[in-house]
Amino acid sequence: MAEQGLEAELSGKLLVWYDANARVLPWREKPGVRADPYRVWLSEIMLQQTTVAAVKDYFIKFIRIWPTVFDLAAAEAEDVMKAWAGLGYYARARNLHACAKVIAATGGVFPQTIVELQKLPGIGPYTAGAIAAIAFDVPVAAVDGNVDRVVSRYYAIEEPLPASKPRIRELAQALVPQKRAGDFAQAMMDLGATICTPKSPSCLICPWTDECAGRIRGIATALPLKASKQKVPTRFGHVYWIENARGDVLVRTRSNKGLLGGMTEFPSSEWVDGKRVKFAAPFEAEWKKAIGLVEHTFTHFHLELMVWKAVAAKPVLEGRFVKTKVLATEALPSLMRKVAVLAMKTG
Ligand code: ADE
Repeated sequence: MAEQGLEAELSGKLLVWYDANARVLPWREKPGVRADPYRVWLSEIMLQQTTVAAVKDYFIKFIRIWPTVFDLAAAEAEDVMKAWAGLGYYARARNLHACAKVIAATGGVFPQTIVELQKLPGIGPYTAGAIAAIAFDVPVAAVDGNVDRVVSRYYAIEEPLPASKPRIRELAQALVPQKRAGDFAQAMMDLGATICTPKSPSCLICPWTDECAGRIRGIATALPLKASKQKVPTRFGHVYWIENARGDVLVRTRSNKGLLGGMTEFPSSEWVDGKRVKFAAPFEAEWKKAIGLVEHTFTHFHLELMVWKAVAAKPVLEGRFVKTKVLATEALPSLMRKVAVLAMKTG
């Protein structure tokens, strides 16, 4: 038998650890068992830019409503947006639906290669790698933030991210075993999430502790270094909570394109970069300012909105009045949920 390489020894140790310590997650099968590609794909789309804790309940809800890719493909777009509301990055939900339609139209079978997977809506290189590995055991690395951290520490990479990315990817790929690539991908994620954590890694119980260069050199916790991030700018504006005589509230649907595309919103002023703007009533009424501010951070900017309330006898702005009791069933993004909470606190 050929001598086992260092990489094979490492991946072997990690798989032994995974067999005993794999997290139980709703989209997962036990170690050694491949999960349904639909569930793998759905979970990976949800997990883009979102934590495992935030995704779990959404995943369970989606699978309950749409147990197969055919069910999801046949859903109304609005229902998909509603079910996604609160999870953020709403282009993901539109792409999810578009992708389900493509898959359903081609017999419900997901492609198995990274190249073919990447041709589908919403699937970039990372997600294609994760799906190919987890659903089909294709021996590819799925390098997310957890894996960046694990690899940077194990090899004591002192070059900051993102410049170190190509090297990390290469080293991660070299570790992938020919068999059980899906378990290996998930084991790397679990190692990063539970042992090799950002602030206080549990090196004493890590399966890779003996050879970890970051630990040996005493720099593990400080890695990976990151090039300092530019601070995002702040935008300011006013948002209007408009009730009719029955206490129903005015909402409208944003256009499908761009930020929060297709989601429900309360009307608001322009969001102005870098300076607070004076309140200008959108129509004449007795306007009352809610106490406090609504703040929300998007990828490229931070937003501060003042909430203003008024009663309008007839629809003075474009939109539709909905009962506040059913607001929760609207496709309200987190920003607008915060607006509703603050407005309803203010009498
Ligand atoms: N992060 C991204 N994909 C994941 C997965 N399949 N399991 C756990 N964390 C993840």
